[in-house]
Amino acid sequence: PPLYVITPTYRRSEQLAELTRLSHTLMHVPNMHWLVIEDAMVKTPLVEELLQKTGLPYDHLIAPMPEQYKKKKKDPKPRGVSNRNKGLEWIRKNARTGVFYFADDDNTYDLDIFEEMRYTKRVSMFPVGLITKLGVSSPVVKNGEFVGFYDGWIAGRKFPVDMAGFAVSVKFLLERPKAIMPFKPGFEEDGFLRSLQPFEPKEIELLAANCTKILVWHTQSKKNEPSLPVDISKFNNTNILKLKQ
Ligand code: UGA
Ligand code: MN
Repeated sequence: PPLYVITPTYRRSEQLAELTRLSHTLMHVPNMHWLVIEDAMVKTPLVEELLQKTGLPYDHLIAPMPEQYKKKKKDPKPRGVSNRNKGLEWIRKNARTGVFYFADDDNTYDLDIFEEMRYTKRVSMFPVGLITKLGVSSPVVKNGEFVGFYDGWIAGRKFPVDMAGFAVSVKFLLERPKAIMPFKPGFEEDGFLRSLQPFEPKEIELLAANCTKILVWHTQSKKNEPSLPVDISKFNNTNILKLKQ
């Protein structure tokens, strides 16, 4: 069955590095269609170039974050939500079978997880490493059965999981025409999984050897200062001279 990988991305200095790394992972995944969706008003030509160079089957789409959320300076923003909803819209129009997965551009993926999630009947889940102080977010499994969730931030969520910790069957989504990701920072995963009703936590399919293996990590690139946009007038000549020597 085909696997649809939905990747939100946005313009920043790390973007091409992250997409290069992720694309090199996906080059090892058979029968995969990559949906790369930029939080932007126009497609970034360098991203298009990168995608073409990979030779992967892909669609390059755009879905800007609504102005009302982008404006917010202090509050957390619903990152990648319009992108993922655009991906869901594409799936509803173009896919009939298979499985989809929300793969952020900065995480690290073991190839095994793509093979395992491919056979998801409804919703599958698995541990995510390097997340919160606890270091892992995962369904808890006892004697082969789901008994609860382990996560550093439960916050009253019915599904306290990370975006990278679940995959969904296309058919299952198509049977739920109202399923959508809400613009609620911190509650995107929970909101989306709740919108898949009827669906309860005890029904999840447990992957990664009954959730005993970490096959995806919530890695984050360290930001350099200053980040984009670079103000060239702020460069001092001393640094440039040093580089030339
Ligand atoms: C955590 C979760 O792992 C994400 O799945 C979740 O979307 C995010 O929090 C959130 O809700 O804010 P985190 O590493 O903190 O992830 O977030 P980012 O990796 O910065 O962003 C998530 C995705 O959205 C990335 O693929 C990123 O490229 C994209 N993004 C980020 C945008 O499209 N626009 C933005 O302004 C920021
Ligand atoms: Mn991230």
